[in-house]
Amino acid sequence: MTNMTDTNKEFSRNKQINIYITEHFGRVSNANIGEIWNITEQAVYCRVERLKAKKLIKKSVKPFAVTNRKLKAKPKANKRDSVRRSKKNSYSNEDGVYKQEARNIMKQAIKVHGKILSLPFSTCELEKQILADNPNAFTFVGCEYESDTFAKMFQTIQKDEILKSVIEPYYGEIGDKIFNAKENEYSNLILDYCGILDTFSKEIKYTVENNIVGVGGAICVTLSKRNSAKEENIFKKINKNIPSNLFDDSVGETERAIRAFFMALVTVNSNYSIEEFFPYQDIKMENGKEALSKTGNIIRKTPMVLFVLRRNK
Ligand SMILES: C[S@@+](CC[C@H](N)C(=O)[O-])C[C@H]1O[C@@H](n2cnc3c(N)ncnc32)[C@H](O)[C@@H]1O
Repeated sequence: MTNMTDTNKEFSRNKQINIYITEHFGRVSNANIGEIWNITEQAVYCRVERLKAKKLIKKSVKPFAVTNRKLKAKPKANKRDSVRRSKKNSYSNEDGVYKQEARNIMKQAIKVHGKILSLPFSTCELEKQILADNPNAFTFVGCEYESDTFAKMFQTIQKDEILKSVIEPYYGEIGDKIFNAKENEYSNLILDYCGILDTFSKEIKYTVENNIVGVGGAICVTLSKRNSAKEENIFKKINKNIPSNLFDDSVGETERAIRAFFMALVTVNSNYSIEEFFPYQDIKMENGKEALSKTGNIIRKTPMVLFVLRRNK
């Protein structure tokens, strides 16, 4: 039997789905809408008909047809799908002490007002913090490719009057936005991937080479220090051309390649500089305490690096 709380939750979810459909029907395919909200395409169709009857969607709006999609002249981010069917999100560091320190650095780097391209996660924490300091200075295009996380992010945005008025949520790869951006389109980019350089190197390079961010803007990138499982990968390619003690013997091969990548990027594109470099690693917490392994050692999370690039001219 469903209790009152379950009924309320279901009511609220239904409302969220209808809001999403009202705002996205015609721009996102019914199949995609169904996938995000875990309902069938037929159920989406029925909702659309009801929303049309209530005049919440114009009768003239046609469903988004995949075949109508404009051919892209620019490359796609990767060979992956634009959206991820998996509902698992490996990001679990939203409460990390050093993660917050990284957010503080990114916040301070955001100096130019205007439209920011970002990865808000379900909580939109960094966006909230940026807006708290400066509520009228920014709008965001917030991207998320994990279906479950996107649905939660959408709800976080809908529930908050300020977020609702300034964040445009996008379900898909941030690379779709990057490769279709105009020169100077964004004031800043917050590429808080926490992912592997090998996956994102093409789009990072593209943002810089095509001046997607206006003069004075920042490009903030977080990457994990994990290596790639692929046979051919960027770490191998870069490390082949540099000696292992280029920086310091303590810098491992993955971080060495990441550092060399960004240094080469701002050398070739001399209108950019590296303004901040912040390596960080949080500790896993359990019930407010540091989590310990079976052997009694503190469990640490994946080590990360944050780079802030500035477009100077
Ligand atoms: C590290 S989290 C963002 C953290 C957040 N900015 C904060 O301050 O807590 C990255 C989020 O972006 C999503 N994501 C990662 N790479 C993406 C990509 N290329 N396109 C779209 N979403 C992506 C992940 O699923 C995850 O939810």
